[in-house]
Amino acid sequence: MKQIAVFASGTGTNFEAIYQAIQQGQLACEIALVVTDNPTAAVIEKARKHNLEVFAFSAKEYSCKDEYEKEIVRRCQEKNVDLLVLAGYMRLLASTMLNSYPQKIVNIHPSLLPAFKGKDAIGQAIEYGVKIMGVTIHYVDATMDGGKILAQRGFEVQPQWTKEEIEQHVHEIEHQLYPETLKYLLKENEL
Ligand code: GRF
Repeated sequence: MKQIAVFASGTGTNFEAIYQAIQQGQLACEIALVVTDNPTAAVIEKARKHNLEVFAFSAKEYSCKDEYEKEIVRRCQEKNVDLLVLAGYMRLLASTMLNSYPQKIVNIHPSLLPAFKGKDAIGQAIEYGVKIMGVTIHYVDATMDGGKILAQRGFEVQPQWTKEEIEQHVHEIEHQLYPETLKYLLKENEL
């Protein structure tokens, strides 16, 4: 059975969607590890409720990025992780992680990349007045929300929608598209 590690910095609704897809037999893998850089993130409680192992770290406690990335890689290797799944993980990855898992790290971003990279992508898209929004899943490289695109799904924004309604729509798409894409990756890609 393929092993994945899920990375999140906050709420973890995407983590939960992936977990549920596995439980329902839609996705053939196991979550070997949940990693967060935020020791108070809600994702920790969600993961522990499912008896999953969590590695919660604080970047401040390490001398540099390389140090905590080495620790992450060590823990992932220990668990024989095949694929690293970033789901709301708010840090850029550096060479330690990227070189240890080439083409084996994916991320989800709430915009149709390459538009609206970085923080508050939905807010940026609203500000710009775009009429079609969406979600992208892509391989991770050293750049912010860069890397080859694996999957995208768009939707038409209704003029009366509030930001909250748009966010809700984005999340609904994310929670379907991430498990679907992981399923494809675990099947098609010889991980
Ligand atoms: C998602 O919108 C994802 O696209 C972005 O961060 C958010 C994480 O949400 N990268 P959650 O923690 O999975 O609820």
